[in-house]
Amino acid sequence: MFWFDYFCRYYAGWADKDHGKTVPVDGDFFAYTRHEPVGICGQIIPWNFPLLMQAWKLGPALAMGNTVVMKPAEQTPLTALYVAGLAAEVGFPPGVLNVLPGYGPTAGAAIVQNPAVDKVAFTGSTEIGTIVSQEAARQLKRVSMELGGKSPAIVFADADMDAAVANTYFGVFFNGGQCCCAGTRVFVEEQIYDEFVDRCVAKANEQKVGDPFILGQDQGPQVDSDQHEKILQLINVGKKEGAKLCTGGGRKGDRGYYVQPTVFADVQDNMTIARDEIFGPVMSILKFKGLDEVVERANDTIYGLAAGVYTQDIDKAMHLSNSLRAGTIWINSYDIFDAAAPFGGYKASGHGREKGQDGLHEYTEVKTVFIKIPQKNS
Ligand code: NAI
Ligand code: MG
Repeated sequence: MFWFDYFCRYYAGWADKDHGKTVPVDGDFFAYTRHEPVGICGQIIPWNFPLLMQAWKLGPALAMGNTVVMKPAEQTPLTALYVAGLAAEVGFPPGVLNVLPGYGPTAGAAIVQNPAVDKVAFTGSTEIGTIVSQEAARQLKRVSMELGGKSPAIVFADADMDAAVANTYFGVFFNGGQCCCAGTRVFVEEQIYDEFVDRCVAKANEQKVGDPFILGQDQGPQVDSDQHEKILQLINVGKKEGAKLCTGGGRKGDRGYYVQPTVFADVQDNMTIARDEIFGPVMSILKFKGLDEVVERANDTIYGLAAGVYTQDIDKAMHLSNSLRAGTIWINSYDIFDAAAPFGGYKASGHGREKGQDGLHEYTEVKTVFIKIPQKNS
């Protein structure tokens, strides 16, 4: 509950602080702006972080005075319903927060198509985000989209090796790899490539994969059989296309949706596992030899959600943070989030930002008011 509370409290603080301006205009007018609610916001969220996705979406929408119809993912409706129960218990007025569980093409599509809904905020796959955007555009609804990724993590030879291995590993395998900003294309400079691969493989081999209700597990199961199947299929495509499978590569055990932590080396830019979002515990390691080359290759993707850079050289770090086309750049770190810091995608990773002050602007309309100031002799 910590993260839910943290994001909601942050946005509660904005409720009386995001306001309009008085605007100096020509002529005898007093002009000012108001930040008004957009209205009824349809919010469609995925299953990979059910409670966190609720907080990121409810916080700014409610703080700016909107009402919400939220559809949780069909895999994970219970947390959303529980939160709705708590809202009722603390006295939210009826109708302000509505949770509507159901499937995407039925409940989700009904929200997007309903003329009463003013805005649609979506987090999920780029494929469905495109469909939802097209549907919403038919009625010119406001939309914000937080979609897929294939984020690069770039490790230079001068990096602190222990930290780079730990952070790139975490960046891929956190939450079983079910993370939109997972840094799954790991580019490693040639001088340290072999050592880096060996150390990631050793780390993968140490992981405890099993029931997350048993303390001490590093990696739990994938969310359902569809995802489990998709990941295993993409691993097979990786093998067929000639990437070098260093460890893992199959399901773990014969019960539950577990996947062995998997590391591929010698991955080439055009291979499917270097291009498609796998959303599972699969690391693809690629070799590079120079700054310009790695910038070009890292940016050669339809996505642009995040990127990681590992180096001790401030010039390289700054050059890359300016050159990489992604919404968040983590230098010598990965998966750092703060309620005050905006998060969102370039390109097919979406548009609009969540969190921070930027996140508020997805949930307000700006109204300008001109008032004629009567002149003495007119
Ligand atoms: P999805 O994009 O189909 O589901 C996300 C949400 O959209 C769910 O609430 C779903 O019910 C809803 N939805 C589905 N079809 C809809 C429609 N026609 N209209 C309105 N809402 C609709 O994602 P799915 O199928 O669960 O996972 C497929 C892949 O998507 C994953 O393997 C992963 O690559 C990616 N994904 C990315 C996420 C992210 O955080 N960016 C989150 C979940 C999945
Ligand atoms: Mg789907």
